[in-house]
Amino acid sequence: MPLDEQAIQNIRAQFPILKQEVNGTPITYLDNAATTHNPQAVIDASTKYYTETNSNIHRGAHYLSRQATAAHEAARDTIAKHFNAAHSHEIIFTSGTTDSINLVSTSISLSGDIKSGDRVLISGLEHHSNIVPWQMLCEQTGAELDVIPITDNGEWNLTNLDTLLTERTKVVAISHISNALGTINPIEKIIPKAKAIGALVLVDGAQSSAHMQVDVQKLGCDFYVFSGHKCYAPTGIGVLWGREDVLNHLPPYKGGGEMIKLVSFEKTTYNELPFKYEAGTPNIEGAIALAAAFDWINEIGLDDMAAHEDHLLEIATAAIKEIPGIKIYGTADKKSAVLSFNIEGIHHYDLGTLIDQMGVAVRTGHHCCQPLMARFSIQGTVRASFAIYNNEQDVHTFISALKKASMMLA
Ligand code: ALA
Repeated sequence: MPLDEQAIQNIRAQFPILKQEVNGTPITYLDNAATTHNPQAVIDASTKYYTETNSNIHRGAHYLSRQATAAHEAARDTIAKHFNAAHSHEIIFTSGTTDSINLVSTSISLSGDIKSGDRVLISGLEHHSNIVPWQMLCEQTGAELDVIPITDNGEWNLTNLDTLLTERTKVVAISHISNALGTINPIEKIIPKAKAIGALVLVDGAQSSAHMQVDVQKLGCDFYVFSGHKCYAPTGIGVLWGREDVLNHLPPYKGGGEMIKLVSFEKTTYNELPFKYEAGTPNIEGAIALAAAFDWINEIGLDDMAAHEDHLLEIATAAIKEIPGIKIYGTADKKSAVLSFNIEGIHHYDLGTLIDQMGVAVRTGHHCCQPLMARFSIQGTVRASFAIYNNEQDVHTFISALKKASMMLA
């Protein structure tokens, strides 16, 4: 059953932040690809942790520490179940997608498995966080970077995949959904080929984790990473899912408490999964809130959420096309609810700033995708991105603000 207007209103009412006004107008928040807001259930989970449970985990002999440890590990179980991980200990809590990718790239680099002349394959629409860590790995190991080119409508051009993905490719790091354009990438076309030649595959799920049901075992990759703050949870918490055998094989890259079994000045032995990769006191409240966010998401259902967001994208795309001089970037058949565009003769930043005065929040700029912007010979775009609490009224407000702003700036 698609979610009707009343169901969306009920969902929207659970987000206290959306009740405020900006410049005397109700806020129209369309910057969800950057950060989503937290529903009351998630805020309550955070508050409950700090009012009832706050303590360090896996360390104390006392009651609160046991409670905090149990809640933290239950959160790990919730995430493992949602993403169908084979084991809870394959879920490593990090501070976010960037941290997860750096963990993987640095551990691979330290492993000594990558040699000079080996290759790493990424795509031309990656976020900087899925480019720079691999460039750093290349600098450290002498490996080289290959890049899947992008078509005019913002899709991967896989025509020459066989020359890009060869026996020399040791790592493939690709995004599931483009943050800048919304393209849903056909990762299923690459993962089996990459695995057949023995490459490790990382999927950047920052934009897919809250917009589609992901089964990490079905994907067949080695790593899937995402951030809590794009999944209706707080900032500063994220996840690295990794296959048990791969995580057991790679070395940790952060040393400290929790990740050790035995420490002496002569030698240290590392803890088992997941603790081997979780040095230091983790973001306990963040993990608990993240699990609460996925409980909340699952009460609605990701398929229904995606159907609603797709509907908003459809009506917004149709309406925006009526604006003179509009150019949409990212016109793939399979898209998530991201609308990236420019209006001829108007700077994206001016447009974003002016519609902000009308209460409409969008992101402007290169979206941490400078190579992708260069591909389209632009400095940046205006990007509107939708979440489950957005409604048709948000689309109308956004479009009419754009029309007004474009007339004022023309
Ligand atoms: N990666 C985030 C975005 O696309 C910050 O806006």
